[in-house]
Amino acid sequence: MLNPKQIDFMLADDKVINLLTGSVRSGKTYVSLLKWAIFVASMPINSEFLMTGKTITSLKRNCLGLLQDLVGKNFTYSTSQKMGVLFGRKVWLEGANDERAESKIRGMTLAGAYVDELTQIPFEFYSMLLSRLSVKGAKLYATTNPDSPTHWVKELIIDNDEIEKAIWNFSFDDNEILKRENEDYFNNLKQQYQSMGGVFYERFILGLWVMAEGIIYKQFANNPEMFIRDEAVDKNGNKLNFLIVSIGIDYGATRGQTTFKATGITPYFKEVWCLDEVNLEGLYTPEEIYEEFDKFYYKIVKEYGKCTHAWGDWGSLGEVLSFGLNRHLQQKGIPLKIENCIKLQINDRIYLDCYLFANSRMFILRKCEYLINSYKQAVWDEKHEDCRLDDGSFDVDSLDAHEYSISAWYDKLMTNINPF
Ligand SMILES: Nc1ncnc2c1ncn2[C@@H]1O[C@H](COP(=O)(O)OP(=O)(O)O)[C@@H](O)[C@H]1O
Ligand SMILES: [Mg+2]
Repeated sequence: MLNPKQIDFMLADDKVINLLTGSVRSGKTYVSLLKWAIFVASMPINSEFLMTGKTITSLKRNCLGLLQDLVGKNFTYSTSQKMGVLFGRKVWLEGANDERAESKIRGMTLAGAYVDELTQIPFEFYSMLLSRLSVKGAKLYATTNPDSPTHWVKELIIDNDEIEKAIWNFSFDDNEILKRENEDYFNNLKQQYQSMGGVFYERFILGLWVMAEGIIYKQFANNPEMFIRDEAVDKNGNKLNFLIVSIGIDYGATRGQTTFKATGITPYFKEVWCLDEVNLEGLYTPEEIYEEFDKFYYKIVKEYGKCTHAWGDWGSLGEVLSFGLNRHLQQKGIPLKIENCIKLQINDRIYLDCYLFANSRMFILRKCEYLINSYKQAVWDEKHEDCRLDDGSFDVDSLDAHEYSISAWYDKLMTNINPF
């Protein structure tokens, strides 16, 4: 049994690109998998297909089990072999969570592709995927929840009149069957999103492609995976060579959380890479902070071959701690001097980071969890114009320390000269 909206979708003629967008739990995945299975079965027996999601794990969680529920033994798969068989046809399974994933599908000749959570997939991967759909009659099926109105899925697919596509909008109320069977569940879900705040409700319940008001690093917050990397490597997988490897220190005197952020800057001040971090939660003696800094310094030098600069917060007890830390480094024979950081105005710092993100010039390694969370959570302080909220509701210290690590090169980083 299908919902009326799902029946419409099943009966419609497919285009090359078939995208189902809209609210959570609206029946997009269910019906798209059903149509996908029928489509695959209709293609020549020797053709090959791809199913992809952010990771194989999420693909399995969202789709593979459900597909088995729908077609029974006609679908078998192995995630370790990244392969499945659907109605006798070979289906490759692949995660698309980093840009190098694109190379995994480069040589394929596909008769069809299914994409779970399209907005979570890098554009490079998507465009490579489209180019692999070279078999006659090949089609793409994808589902997604809405994202920001500037997301590539919105701009380059939904709003693009030049391509052959069918866009289906599913709303929260379209899943009539589930709603009838489980009204309470639906009401709870709605309430949950409502309490999370405007943007979540608007996107995941109303199914709208809206901006996250109040979020500072909108681009990052709307699509963090665009800026998160697993390793500091270039497009060809070669280890990056940094001109500068700089540590920013926020002693967090008021809230008792000292944090170090290591940042690499590539030659010509082209890219900024947030490489590593230490967050010391709770109380530490100055000596303990110095020891932790030592360890971090050696770790960075070991991994990146150098640590060229370090910048400490000053004001309140910052200078005292940097003074002590410098004496400690001297005694240990570590050739590094903590300088007083350059304190740019908050909105200049924010502008710098947003500018770097906007130009795809700043990346964060996945292990920098504190920093990543701070970038996701930072919001403007509504009571003060052009001011970042600093009421302890999220970790501002991580942003400060990162900013100290690069502020000295503000002008060079802002200069829009591409030396290549
Ligand atoms: N026609 C249907 N009959 C029975 N259950 C359905 C039907 N359509 C969707 N569901 C169930 O409703 C839930 C939400 O559907 P799903 O396709 O996962 O939504 P979405 O992908 O839009 O978030 C799932 O548990 C799914 O199995
Ligand atoms: Mg879904």
